[in-house]
Amino acid sequence: IKIGALISGGGTNLQAIIDSCAAGNIDATLVFTGSDNPEAKGLDRARRAGVETFVVDYGKIIRTLKQNSNALAVPDDFDLKEVQHRQTLFSASTDHEKITAFLRSRAIAERALLDYILPHDIDLLVLAGFMRTLTPYFIDHMNTVPGKWKIMNIHPALLPSFPGTDGYGDTFRHGCKVGGCTVHFIDYGEDTGPIIGQRAFEITDEDTLESIKKKGLALEWALYPECIQKFAENKI
Ligand code: GRF
Repeated sequence: IKIGALISGGGTNLQAIIDSCAAGNIDATLVFTGSDNPEAKGLDRARRAGVETFVVDYGKIIRTLKQNSNALAVPDDFDLKEVQHRQTLFSASTDHEKITAFLRSRAIAERALLDYILPHDIDLLVLAGFMRTLTPYFIDHMNTVPGKWKIMNIHPALLPSFPGTDGYGDTFRHGCKVGGCTVHFIDYGEDTGPIIGQRAFEITDEDTLESIKKKGLALEWALYPECIQKFAENKI
């Protein structure tokens, strides 16, 4: 199968995927790696492996729109009312003005992502530490066949516990005695999509946030390639 990846940071999961493809443990070709962050270290990992890279600079888009909300064109096929309606169904916020501004900037960024991604005709998009919420606008352009999920994510907690950006931190602060990671498909909600695989580890009194992250990441690097291979074999 053909896969693409989106990252925001260090890209150790991306590296695990690159290595698993090279070792033949995943029957897939990674055809691109994209990032919202031009500084993402993971982009170098992709380049070193000879994988095409691209950046859609979300920060720059958001800053530009803050100065002048008309400076960038919202894509023609972006139906704000429709997306907003579906977003509010799944989001805690009911501040429509805020949601509207958020969705407009996302639509512009996501249109740019789609312009790179769609021509590659990938079977699966893997999010590997991609720290931006994807809206229904993007998701609907990817999941064009009903019931056929196309975007996978790895999350640093045992979902449905601790959605959000700091799974290991939340696990640590709650004094959990087990932690773990989850691979799941992306739906409109925040880390709510169907669960594909999970791994758990024990937490002892000696553990620190750092040691928890270390244990968790090591499991992530094994779990994510396994789940991608399951997808490639049509076994999910
Ligand atoms: C991982 O902990 C992943 O679960 C989370 O973000 C982190 C990314 O790490 N979504 P890396 O960039 O793969 O090293």
